[in-house]
Amino acid sequence: MSRSKAWVGAAIAVAAVVGMTVPAVSATGAPTPTPRGEIRPVPAPTTIASYSLVAPAGTSRSQLVARAILRPGRPCPPLMTKTKAGAAWRATRTTQRSVGPLASPAFAAVKVCSVNVPVGVTQASLGGRTIPAAIPARVTRIGITADSGCKVKGSKIQDCNNGGWPLAAMAAQLAALRPQVIFEPGDYYYRDDACPKADWAKCGVTPPVGPTPGMPFTDNAHGWLVDAIIPMTPVFSVAPLALLRGNHEACDRAGNGYFLFFDPRLETSTECEPVNDGGTLEPPKEQVTPAWAFTLPVASGRALKVAMVDTAYGSDDTISKWAHKGHEVYLQAAAMTTPKPGIESWLMTHRPLFGRTPGKGEEPNYTPWASNNQAAGSQGLLGNYQLVLSSHIHLLQAVQIKGVPPNLIVGAGGTMLDPRGDFSIPAFGPLAKSDGTAIDPKYPPYPTASMLWTKVRYGFGIATAGATRNAWNVKMHGLGGTDLGTCRLRNPHGAGPNLTCS
Ligand SMILES: [Fe+2]
Repeated sequence: MSRSKAWVGAAIAVAAVVGMTVPAVSATGAPTPTPRGEIRPVPAPTTIASYSLVAPAGTSRSQLVARAILRPGRPCPPLMTKTKAGAAWRATRTTQRSVGPLASPAFAAVKVCSVNVPVGVTQASLGGRTIPAAIPARVTRIGITADSGCKVKGSKIQDCNNGGWPLAAMAAQLAALRPQVIFEPGDYYYRDDACPKADWAKCGVTPPVGPTPGMPFTDNAHGWLVDAIIPMTPVFSVAPLALLRGNHEACDRAGNGYFLFFDPRLETSTECEPVNDGGTLEPPKEQVTPAWAFTLPVASGRALKVAMVDTAYGSDDTISKWAHKGHEVYLQAAAMTTPKPGIESWLMTHRPLFGRTPGKGEEPNYTPWASNNQAAGSQGLLGNYQLVLSSHIHLLQAVQIKGVPPNLIVGAGGTMLDPRGDFSIPAFGPLAKSDGTAIDPKYPPYPTASMLWTKVRYGFGIATAGATRNAWNVKMHGLGGTDLGTCRLRNPHGAGPNLTCS
């Protein structure tokens, strides 16, 4: 049995919640330490997953939210924390997090419980699982991965069950490298359609995954467990997750599950609640959630601020109305990253601002740059960033364009890779047609790339802080420990951030 196949089997077993050992629990689900403070393992059949999400400081002072996914039917378990070894466990009440009432039939199979992690915690456990208790005092090692689910849409069917979907293997590999925080710029859910009977060997699971009848979106709880939560489990105890949604988590696709499971903000859980339009349920109109940011201490006098911009909607090839809507959010992000001594800033956004897609595209509007829409919406608002971190195109790529921060694209986290093709530097830059003229005269074209590096291979990044400010090395790890290259980010003399890859 292949590694992936074994993992799918494990996933199904875990989804059935059989035979797990976790800390002893009381009637309310609280872990019960022995008098010596040890945790006694006993079966605890209700917890499916527990993890820590990086959150804005305005949501949680510790910048961490603890969240658990459980089988329904029991009260939410408390978050158990310690402030030092040997101290008593302290229980903090968690509250249920729910999608809106109209979407709830698709998520009835789970109960999600959430609470802010208190400041000053050194150990934490939720639903009997150990979770990351704090942002480390020095974050010098960051995992980066995205675009992870197994594609089942129309005739495009990934071989999810026979080694053709490496998410679980890569999650285990990433966990073993012990990143201190993990960044994921979006696209977790790829099972838009039910697996066709003819392709059951490739994508079938028991019970089947498919859209819930009557719902104006494609995701549900079971799909999220199979396509994301269970295979991602190896990283949950290792590092807090800084997550964004991608276009796969738009409200007509897997937005409800994203906001239920993965968005850290208290106010977003019903963001994708359908609208009852004369008896017909419709997804809410295309919306964008506000920008948010978090700060990671890197070294004495040095911190990394990351602005998070929601680019679930928009167009990759044209400059649509989303350039205007997105502009507002890039403005918010810029305001959050005003330059300050000792602070370096990155922008995380699902759709690349400057990504090279294979081939030459089709005129007049389609260019080899993705996404012209985002390049337009963010134009003039990128001066605060050392790096733009994205995914969306299913490969590993780095793009350097004069005058703007480099864009690192890490979208090879498990879903079907993009086709190999022409990844040479185009003669013209983003926002230009192939004759060099502007796609839209309101948005002056950028120059073409001065550096473009691409690997169409499954992999993830580990960003390691360099010894000097603004210096980071991002090593790309392929399946089985393959070295896919390293990108080096530098800004030594304030001449502008520079990324080189080899
Ligand atoms: Fe995407």
